[in-house]
Amino acid sequence: MWRRHHRPTTPPSLLAITTTTIIVVFTLTIFFYAITTRKPSIPQFQHSSELKWNSFESSVQFNPTVEQSNGTDLIYQIPDSPRAVLFLAHGCGRRAADFWDRSPGCPHCSGLPEDRLIVLHALHRRFAVLTVSSSAECWSLGRETRTVRWIIKRWVESNGLAGLPLAAMGASSGGYFVSALAASAEMGFSSIAIMIAEGAFEDTKKIRKGYPPTLFLHMPKDRRRMRLVELNMGALRRAGVPVREVRCAEFPLTPEFLSDRIPALDRKSSVELFALFRNEGFIDENGYMRKDGRSTNWKEAVKRSGLLPEKFQWEGHIEEELNLAFGYHEMTSLQSDDMFDWFESHMS
Ligand SMILES: *[C@@H]1O[C@H](CO)[C@@H](O)[C@H](O)[C@H]1NC(C)=O
Repeated sequence: MWRRHHRPTTPPSLLAITTTTIIVVFTLTIFFYAITTRKPSIPQFQHSSELKWNSFESSVQFNPTVEQSNGTDLIYQIPDSPRAVLFLAHGCGRRAADFWDRSPGCPHCSGLPEDRLIVLHALHRRFAVLTVSSSAECWSLGRETRTVRWIIKRWVESNGLAGLPLAAMGASSGGYFVSALAASAEMGFSSIAIMIAEGAFEDTKKIRKGYPPTLFLHMPKDRRRMRLVELNMGALRRAGVPVREVRCAEFPLTPEFLSDRIPALDRKSSVELFALFRNEGFIDENGYMRKDGRSTNWKEAVKRSGLLPEKFQWEGHIEEELNLAFGYHEMTSLQSDDMFDWFESHMS
């Protein structure tokens, strides 16, 4: 018959030592495991309404110059004592004019809320800003890259900016375009930022040595794009290129969000629009957009409500902010500090 083995009673002191040792070893194991497997933290933007459309009013004013070159338009502004140059490439259906507020010098400018804030951030940090329009609806990656490289270089030289670091940011179609411009060492970008795009790297095994440090700003709600961004980040890393990503999440709207960001919208209209969107069920009880604003009839609801003037020209501005809040494919200035810190950390 099986007899239970009785161990001799351990003296209390030895028991205590054994227990302590086991606990210490166990804790250290967990600790080292946690350290070695911890993923680098990826900043997720927490919505803050601190930054308003007029946050830069006291330090920066729009005063752009408009020019034509090689069949397209250039709009630019150079601050006093510029420290660097920033080339900005818009997305499909947008123009250079979307980056700048309407002014006597640029009567056709339309100042989309996020685009204009990126420019204001840039000027505030004393970056000279150059925007160019694509020749068609979207950018193309063939001849247009050669033309725009030529335009940028000529503009930099003729404005006496040749000694300064040259950074670039492109959103969506502009992101693919900027990544393709950067493929030429001759372009001389000090670093680039690619927004809501994975970039155009024809053959990721052949990324050139010295390709500019690349920041990806993307919206992880587009999971497919996020995976492509991850693949290209891996390929760039293997080529020895510094990379970083910033993820832009959805966030809830607040009654004053739209008037905080859109110059042409007053606070009262913003609060009323928010109430309308809630009543119509476009946003949930926490202020989150329930659906992509591109697929709901919020524009019709706004028209029916009569909340905005008959000929309100800034519908596109509201749309940009709703898309941003939904966290899906739109220009964002919310991560501008990350972006300019990236440019500035690669300027020497
Ligand atoms: C752009 O236009 C200028 C002046 O018309 C011309 O000399 C230059 O070759 C053009 N550049 C490209 C890349 O087409």
